[in-house]
Parts: sequence; structure tokens; C-alpha cells
Amino acid sequence: MFVRRIAVIGTGYVGLTTGACLASLGHHVVCADVDADKVKRLCAGEVDILEPGLAELVSEGIAAGRLSFVLGAPAAVEGAEVVFLCVPTPMGVGGVADLSIVESVIEEVGTLLPAGCVVVNKSTVPVGSAQRTAELIERDDVAVVSNPEFLREGSAVHDFLNPDRIVVGCDQQDAAERVAALYARLGAPTVLTDAASAELVKYAANCFLAMKLSYVNAIAELCDRLGADISDVTEGMGYDKRIGQAFLQPGPGWGGSCLPKDTSAMLQLADAADFEFRLIRATIDTNNRQRQRMVEKVRLAVTGKRGGSLSKVRLGVLGLTFKAGTDDLRDSPALAVAALLRQAGAKLVGYDPALRSGDVRADLDGITLVDDPYQAAEGVEAVVVLTEWAEFRSLDWSKLAGVVARPVVVDTRNLLDPDVVRRAGFEWNGLGRR
Ligand code: UGA
Repeated sequence: MFVRRIAVIGTGYVGLTTGACLASLGHHVVCADVDADKVKRLCAGEVDILEPGLAELVSEGIAAGRLSFVLGAPAAVEGAEVVFLCVPTPMGVGGVADLSIVESVIEEVGTLLPAGCVVVNKSTVPVGSAQRTAELIERDDVAVVSNPEFLREGSAVHDFLNPDRIVVGCDQQDAAERVAALYARLGAPTVLTDAASAELVKYAANCFLAMKLSYVNAIAELCDRLGADISDVTEGMGYDKRIGQAFLQPGPGWGGSCLPKDTSAMLQLADAADFEFRLIRATIDTNNRQRQRMVEKVRLAVTGKRGGSLSKVRLGVLGLTFKAGTDDLRDSPALAVAALLRQAGAKLVGYDPALRSGDVRADLDGITLVDDPYQAAEGVEAVVVLTEWAEFRSLDWSKLAGVVARPVVVDTRNLLDPDVVRRAGFEWNGLGRR
């Protein structure tokens, strides 16, 4: 059953992906944003988010007459049967999720919502938000449903169309079923529950993923100390179906716009419920320490001793985004490590496939950004791989060996093939690997 009018408020990566994918499933979708220029560009099929397959889906939706874009939420909710709230919920003061944008949208459209429509909270919001949203709307004829998203940046379209599960939470069964029916064609397991449980699923899942990564980074450290090999250890662990192979890749720490925000929010959530969630505290602390540990690795590789000075040492940094496949720098572990290296006195030249020199984003302050990995390696004492871009694997390491001052690689993602790099004359230093 196709819905004749779905409104999606917010065209960030969650909103635009949700709108374009729902249109591709046969529904009619109107997406709203407050940015007039963005709306104009989207109407012309121009997508400025780096998300594989999204631009194609947007163009197809527009051409099929099932996807359109309007300025402002009021225009979108007119005649809508379902209204998705996909606006940002940034980390606010003290790690508490800031709901002011959600609240201002509700203030704007609360009285305009058609009778009988369902409002869907897609944004990651604290437990209790659906109830709070319902209180703000103050309408008996409008139901509020929590329907968290589990989209990864860089594979959001794939994740939307191939979900592991759909979670829908509402105390009104019929409203929950109406939302679940939107995804029926995807054939995914569906969890119908109350709103608070649906909201908690999102935090519990993201925090579990963060915990898994902090755990694997700690095991990698242990491998370094014990002379074991993390890739064999994780392979051996991962065949256990209860553990699984995914999310076992050690790195410079986890980052991005979700896991750091959600782990902090979980601590606040627990705190407010008078529960000291030590496991999550340790997960965050381990992650912060991991960044410092990467600096120590570089120090040891460059100076040959623990605590050696990096003052005025020139380093070539490969990868700055928070993970490969995105141009997102928010809470990037690569940038955090780079900042610590700079604090230690190192001079950084950076290259990232998703960034161009002249990028003025404040986060890059102090890193000389170049457009070519070989240029980034010129005259450096070490090449430091910080983001797992596949193209770094196929670099010409003999050519790199010809331009560096010293052939040293610190591979914080265990991305490169050590044999290839070593054959080119480099000393390769990974995480928890000999
Ligand atoms: C994460 C979750 O994976 C999604 O399920 C969720 O929907 C999303 O947050 C969200 O809340 O919106 P995302 O932030 O796009 O998705 O990034 P991930 O792919 O989860 O990566 C997070 C961090 O962990 C990155 O810094 C990445 O490099 C790191 N990572 C990931 C590792 O270090 N090792 C791994 O094996 C996997």
C-alpha cells in the first residue's frame, strides 16, 4: 500500500535518504528544508551530500513525480498522512541531546498537522522524546511514533533499502502498524514496541558498537604488548556467530557524528535515571586514550624511543575524514590524532581523497592540505595513515619511498599490506601486528 503524501522535515543525510528511499518504494514524498538555496538545488536534482546512490534516487523520484522539495515545514505537512522529523539533535550542554530544533519544528507545524496523521521521530532523541513531542503537539488526533534509523554515512541508501530490522515504537498499535507498513516491501524483521523501548534501541545499539570498537582497540594494544596478531585474533573471535566479523577493525578510535554523541547521551540518560553506566564511561575513556596511543606509536616509530620529541618533525598524514567513503570531518579521530601530533610540535602535511587544498574548515587549521598523496609524503619523517581509504592500499610505495625523508609508515588502520610496503623499503608499524 502506497502512501499518497509523506512529509519529511529536514534534508540532511537522514532526511534526504529517508525521503528519496521512501519515494523509491512507491510512496509520494515532500521534503522540506529551511535553506532556500538547498531546496532550489534539490528541486533541480542537485545533491551535495557524498552518499552513493542518493543523487540517482533523488533524480528518479523527481522524474517519477513522487519526490518534491519545498521551503519550510508548513508547506510540507499540508495533507500529509505521515510526517517524518529528520532534523539535527546535536550534542548540547553536558552531553545532553539538544532538542531545540525538533521543538521549534513542532511549534511551527503543530496546529497545521492534518487530523489523523502520524508524526514519526526519526532523529536520534533521548528516551521520553516521543512522549514529549506528543505533549508539545497537544493533539488527540495526531499520534507520535518513534522509528529510529540505523543508517551509516557512506552507505545510507544501501542500509535503508537493506535494513537488518525496522523498529517502530508507539503506544497506539494502529499508528505503529501504519508506519511499519511503509517499509513492508523491504521484508525486514520488524520490532513493534512502545516508544521508550524504540528510542532506547538506537542508543543501546550505537553504544554497543562503540563498546565493541573500544574493546577491539584494547585487545590490539594487548597484542602489541604480548607479541600476538590482532587480525588473527579478531578473525578467530569473529567466526563465533555470537560475536560476528563486523566492527572488529582496530583503528585510531571511533568518531563521527553519531557514536561520540550517543555514548555521551547514554551516560546522561543513565545518570538521570540514577544509574552509573561504568561500561560506557570506560568505552569513552578507552577511545580518548586510543588517540593518545596513536601519537605514542608515531613518537616511537620516528624517534626510536618512548617519549621521544616530535618537535619540528614533518609528518605526512593520509586520511582526515572520520572514516572512508565520506567527506565528514565531525569528531574525526584522524583530526583528533592530528591535533595531538601538532600539540607535540610536529608539522603536518595532509591528504584526503574527499578534501581539496584550500578547504577552509576550521578543523583543518594547522594542517597543510595538498591534493596529492605523493606531495603529502615529500620530505617527511613518517607517513601516518589515519583513515581507511582503499586508494591508499594501491599507492605506488616505491615512488613514495623516493620522496620521503625517512621510509617509515604508521598505519593506524592496519589498512596497508605490510609486505608490499616493506618491499618498497619502508618500515611498517601497525596496530597489534608484528
Ligand atoms: C553509526 C552506526 O554504525 C549506524 O548504525 C547508525 O545509524 C549511525 O551511527 C547513526 O547513529 O546515525 P556512522 O556514524 O556512519 O554510523 O559510522 P560507522 O560506520 O559506525 O563508524 C563509526 C566509527 O567507527 C568511525 O570512526 C569508523 O572509522 C570506526 N570503525 C568502524 C572502526 O574503527 N572499526 C570498525 O571496524 C568499524
